[in-house]
Amino acid sequence: MGGLVAVGANAQADNLITVKLNQPGAAIQPTMWGVFFEDINMGADGGIYAELVKNRSFEFAMPMMGWKVLGKPATEGDFLVTNRQQQNTANPRYLHVTLHNNKDGSIGLSNEGFRGMGIKQGVRYDFSMMYRQPAGEIKMHIELLNPKNQNIGSVTLITKATGEKWSNPKINFQATATEPKAKLNIWFEGDGTIDLDMISLFPQDTWKNRPGGMRADMIQLLADMKPGFIRFPGGCIVEGRDLANRYQWKKTIGPIEERQLIMNRWNVEFAAKAMPDYFQTFGLGFFEYFQLAEDIGAEPLPILNCGMACQFNTAELVPIEQLDPYVQDALDLIEFANGPVTTPYGKVRADMGHPAPFNLKMMGVGNENWGPQYVERLQIFTKAIKAKYPGFKLINSSGTDPNGARFDYLNAELRKMNADFIDEHYYRKPEWFLQNASRYDNYPRNATKIFAGEYAAHSDKATGGEIKNNWHAAIAEAAFMTGLERNADVVNMASYAPLFAHVEAWQWAPDMIWVDNLHSFGTPSYYVQKLYALNKGSQVVPALINDSAIAGKNGFYASACIDKQTNEVILKLVNTTDKEQTYDALLQGIKKLPKQAIVTVLKSADLLAVNSLANPAAVTPQESVMDIKGKKMALLLAPYSFTVLRVKML
Ligand code: AHR
Repeated sequence: MGGLVAVGANAQADNLITVKLNQPGAAIQPTMWGVFFEDINMGADGGIYAELVKNRSFEFAMPMMGWKVLGKPATEGDFLVTNRQQQNTANPRYLHVTLHNNKDGSIGLSNEGFRGMGIKQGVRYDFSMMYRQPAGEIKMHIELLNPKNQNIGSVTLITKATGEKWSNPKINFQATATEPKAKLNIWFEGDGTIDLDMISLFPQDTWKNRPGGMRADMIQLLADMKPGFIRFPGGCIVEGRDLANRYQWKKTIGPIEERQLIMNRWNVEFAAKAMPDYFQTFGLGFFEYFQLAEDIGAEPLPILNCGMACQFNTAELVPIEQLDPYVQDALDLIEFANGPVTTPYGKVRADMGHPAPFNLKMMGVGNENWGPQYVERLQIFTKAIKAKYPGFKLINSSGTDPNGARFDYLNAELRKMNADFIDEHYYRKPEWFLQNASRYDNYPRNATKIFAGEYAAHSDKATGGEIKNNWHAAIAEAAFMTGLERNADVVNMASYAPLFAHVEAWQWAPDMIWVDNLHSFGTPSYYVQKLYALNKGSQVVPALINDSAIAGKNGFYASACIDKQTNEVILKLVNTTDKEQTYDALLQGIKKLPKQAIVTVLKSADLLAVNSLANPAAVTPQESVMDIKGKKMALLLAPYSFTVLRVKML
């Protein structure tokens, strides 16, 4: 029966958990447990954005990055990346191909994909491109190859003369084999010239089968959590290393060929993890993020640049008198999300296929910004946004750390401003999480709420937790989160960070979900987050031992809530020790106990245990039914275990 079994009742008060169902406390916000998405670790391009062609529009810093010319072109310049910046600033480059009566189709192009292309047998693939061709007819033989150069799917596309006009043909074909490291070859048969742009290959089995959509397995893992909100697009990516490289949502909407690509700041952030081929094509942009939020039933939570670039990088600052366009971006975003279709940005949303509003209720201004310059800018944003949208909630940064001078300054300033939400970030050792489970017990109880916007326990290298999340980190997060739940009147939102990482292209670890080109798996931290999100409940109830919160004595942490919809009490119990622990739980205010309860246990005897591609279920929750006898529930908690107990209130 997992880590929890019914045993004879224990008598000592130290082991008696009193759950005061007759003293319900704070409401737990529907937003309580959410997710944080950032395009880091190849999270978007090469990640959830299912495009398989890397550098599809030849806009990377090295225009042919990801591409190779095949065969022996007759003349230098037969494959020439050309720039038409004067006519098209968003997508200036295209590939000009000259064929010299190439009858045998012996020259071509090859794209390597993002660390290869993940191809699945039986799935159909949509090939599309933009082209223009002054005359004649060219046959393009499109094929997918495995690393042994064996064909695993092919189709031929015949292009006809278009003159000066760009045409956008699409064709699809079925893959005959599964291959994690495929490449795409395009062989040209014909004579004359052709201009090519936006060469693209998508699987058809995307999330909700949307053409040009997202990778279904990765999104499914999010949907399975039923997150209360999704924060996007980050993280530091919002700030940019400099302002030119900041995230600008307006450049991420509309037709994808008009979305201006920029370098991904994580491309060069860590020398040891440099990834020169990491760009943001924005095929996944703000419209798609809003749509994703809607799909998975999460409140959208966009974060915008506040007029400051990353203060760990250039710390570039927009002068106050030039801040208007930044503020306008925020106002326009609310119109884009919520405005009637008769408004300019409401119309853009409708034209993109979503006339109904997205019901945006909140946004963040600034990511990890700090100091008086941040406060000065934030005040301007706040005034303008609240004047136009009085009920709209704003999330404010408290900097990079949960304590210290920068934090203290901002915490005081933001509270003076009656901030709606203060966004706190903590990447700390597991011990910090265990020691800080009471962090919010003594926080001010006023209108300013906390958004635990980015957190993760980082085991040190010595405990093997550097790269992937181990159970040591995850159990510390589970323990800490009892404190978030207990203080749900103060903490209204929380999200682990970062979310996704590709095993061959990551810059930052640990991360909640790891993927390769075909597979994805949740870490123990994922399962902790999921258990909290699926067992959110609606109202906190006190869970006490000797009239005190259960926050670390004997390595034990607990919280409780009720779920009004299902009429259940939910206990979360974390035993962080290597010993079994026994407790009695007395549900005060309930007439009688049911005969059974549902128990879900996440545990491992090995704190270094991790999930992996080879063993994705090493640490996963196990559900069972527990018999209840008598007036108290007698609990036996396995060593190193996180238990969720659901009991019907009769
Ligand atoms: O989550 C990774 C990074 O950590 C985020 O981009 C940033 O906000 C924080 O420093």
